[in-house]
Amino acid sequence: MKYPSVHYSDYLEIEKIINAQHPKSDEYKKPAHDELLFIITHQTYELWFKQILFELNSVLSTFHQPQVEENEMGRASARLERIVSILKMVLGQIDVLETMTPLDFLDFRDMLYPASGFQSFQWRLIETKLGLRMGDRLSYNQSPFYKSLAESQQAEMLKVLEEPSLFDALEKWLERTPFLQADDFNFWESYQKAVNDMFQADIETVKNNDRLPPEDKEKNIKSLQDSLKTFDALFDEQAFNEIRQAGNFRLSYKALHAALLIQLYRDQPVFQIPFRIIRALLDIDETMTMWRYRHALMAHRMLGQKIGTGGSSGHKYLADATSKHKIFNDFFNLTTFFIPRSQIPTLPKSISDRMNFHY
Ligand code: HEM
Repeated sequence: MKYPSVHYSDYLEIEKIINAQHPKSDEYKKPAHDELLFIITHQTYELWFKQILFELNSVLSTFHQPQVEENEMGRASARLERIVSILKMVLGQIDVLETMTPLDFLDFRDMLYPASGFQSFQWRLIETKLGLRMGDRLSYNQSPFYKSLAESQQAEMLKVLEEPSLFDALEKWLERTPFLQADDFNFWESYQKAVNDMFQADIETVKNNDRLPPEDKEKNIKSLQDSLKTFDALFDEQAFNEIRQAGNFRLSYKALHAALLIQLYRDQPVFQIPFRIIRALLDIDETMTMWRYRHALMAHRMLGQKIGTGGSSGHKYLADATSKHKIFNDFFNLTTFFIPRSQIPTLPKSISDRMNFHY
């Protein structure tokens, strides 16, 4: 044997884990059956948060390199996909916790005051490392969110807030995407023409529809023209920057273009992994949003209009944070600029050849 033998219980330190539940209701000798479920649910969440952070840190170290190594990209995308699987699985844990009724919760709730999930350091690390900034957060108790953390954690949190997040690193990586401008093909001119042609064809269809009353025709044409205007932001950097400053986009003009290029030409081998990375980030954001919403609903059914043990307005705060704390919103909004596959400009052979693998 190359290595000393090891026992299951020692290897996994089972004793430590199964002896780490100390219900307050036992301590105060006021038995509350459901407190064990409440503790174990939180503990398993924190264990999975630890795994998510482990994966996230490894993806961050790949993306923080000045030149991201291509051969690390498959691994980074697989790790992001693993985070999605974990998040989907822990979403289901709410079902288990909801078998506890509000009355069962009230048996021990007062004993936890003022502890709250708001103090979960690992959850805050996940959000911040993904790219949620201080200014993006809902204000809570008139003090910055990190003040709720333990003192030793506050210093680390401030450090992490200063570091570039996955959002920042991803933006830089997108900006370096090749093929944004190729010598013999101006993609954006071709795309603008395809968009114009598509809208003009739709406007003509409305104009030629004899069954539509004139006022409906006018309304439909106006709505198509307005939609076409939203594309201005895509083709005019100044217009884009104005919209961005107003808070409608977070990614830079160049990074947004790259993300669109990747989405439209995702079948090209060179864009396959970047496409999977963007999709995994959309999935992470969507699953975290679903978790926030389900958690808000759970808090509502458990607490009604009561305030949280951490002092927030309770379910109202949680419901408001649900969409406000989304990070990769730009990837969701990008779909506005999609056009049907049949109308996407065909790439010149010289470019599509370079996007393929050659042996
Ligand atoms: C009976 C079940 C639960 C109730 C009633 C509940 C209630 C609340 C409330 C009211 C808040 C807002 C802060 C406050 O005022 O305390 C909160 C925040 C939070 N809770 Fe829970 N919670 C429950 C279970 C869980 C579980 C199982 C987790 C898993 C880790 C969790 C994680 C969090 C997190 C991370 C926050 C901060 C959310 C944010 O600020 O966006 N909670 N919870």
